[in-house]
Amino acid sequence: MRVVDLRSDTVTHPSPEMRMAMYEAELGDDVYGEDPTLNALEAKAAERLGKEAAVFVASGTMGNLVSVLAHAQRGDEIILGSKAHIFRSEAGGASALGGVSFHTVPNDDRGMLDPEDVRAAVRPNDPHMPRTAAVCLENTQNACGGAALTQDDMQAISAVARETNIALHVDGARIFNAAVALEAPASELARDADSLTFCLSKGLSCPIGSIIVGDADYIQEARRWRKMVGGSMRQVGVIAAAGIVALDTMVERLAEDHANARKLAEGLAEIPGIDIDPDSLPTNLVFFEIQRDDWQDLHRQLVERGVKGGGGTSRWRYVTHYGITESDIDYTLEQVREVFAV
Ligand SMILES: Cc1ncc(COP(=O)(O)O)c(C=O)c1O
Repeated sequence: MRVVDLRSDTVTHPSPEMRMAMYEAELGDDVYGEDPTLNALEAKAAERLGKEAAVFVASGTMGNLVSVLAHAQRGDEIILGSKAHIFRSEAGGASALGGVSFHTVPNDDRGMLDPEDVRAAVRPNDPHMPRTAAVCLENTQNACGGAALTQDDMQAISAVARETNIALHVDGARIFNAAVALEAPASELARDADSLTFCLSKGLSCPIGSIIVGDADYIQEARRWRKMVGGSMRQVGVIAAAGIVALDTMVERLAEDHANARKLAEGLAEIPGIDIDPDSLPTNLVFFEIQRDDWQDLHRQLVERGVKGGGGTSRWRYVTHYGITESDIDYTLEQVREVFAV
């Protein structure tokens, strides 16, 4: 049976070039700083994001955790959107492991925070209150339809952060999707951030890995926290080799995923029972609402036909990625049309 797996861009497999690079990678012990392939990946990532230094971590969740812990002390607070992945989907790690509490402010439909909400959320210097250590943005914002925040958006929040003397961390799990969608260099989107985490293992198709970038002192502190949470690795070049290929070959390709997402969104918009605004879908995450009570049954039928994704609630998400072709989108639309026709 033909399978079109639209559950997430995390289901991607490494490209043949990545597999070859992994096979051939020069290795060393990274805890001694001696893995030449990882050192090359970290240098490349820092340069690409316009920062002094970078550190490799196992996942986006670990990247955000280590980033927050490197900014905040126990008892501190961070400000973030109520739909932020760090707040909703990372098991409360910064609170549980770092004693850092979350102060949420609303995300608008595009995932942006209102700078005035952020300013109002920063605590005064009062011993009754937690200290505010950082504000976090997410770009692209997953739960807000994969919307891309612009350089102006980032600048508006960083201005508040500078004024109030707190750090700006960006969960840039999909920062390269934002960069490609906005036709802006990722370094421009990262410019105002004190730290940024991006994932190699989503649209960039690596099997494992994320990277934190920032200035040299901050990354040194992040390395200490990575050690504490058990994230130091040894001959990690075997994974890092894929990351180098990803940064060299997989970034511009994201435009194909965005074009496929748009085609999918436009097709879904024509199917009765589906509510979607294709104009609000600039990247690779396609969210839509099923306006039928039998959505669970519709979901089951689509999975039986090999179309994976959505389900859980009547708000479904289909994600385009490396390995999903235009013909897969045609197949998906054909299957959805047939299933929804009954
Ligand atoms: C916006 C965002 N941040 C962070 C993560 C966490 O990444 P990981 O699954 O590698 O821990 C995800 C994963 O989907 C994400 O969508």
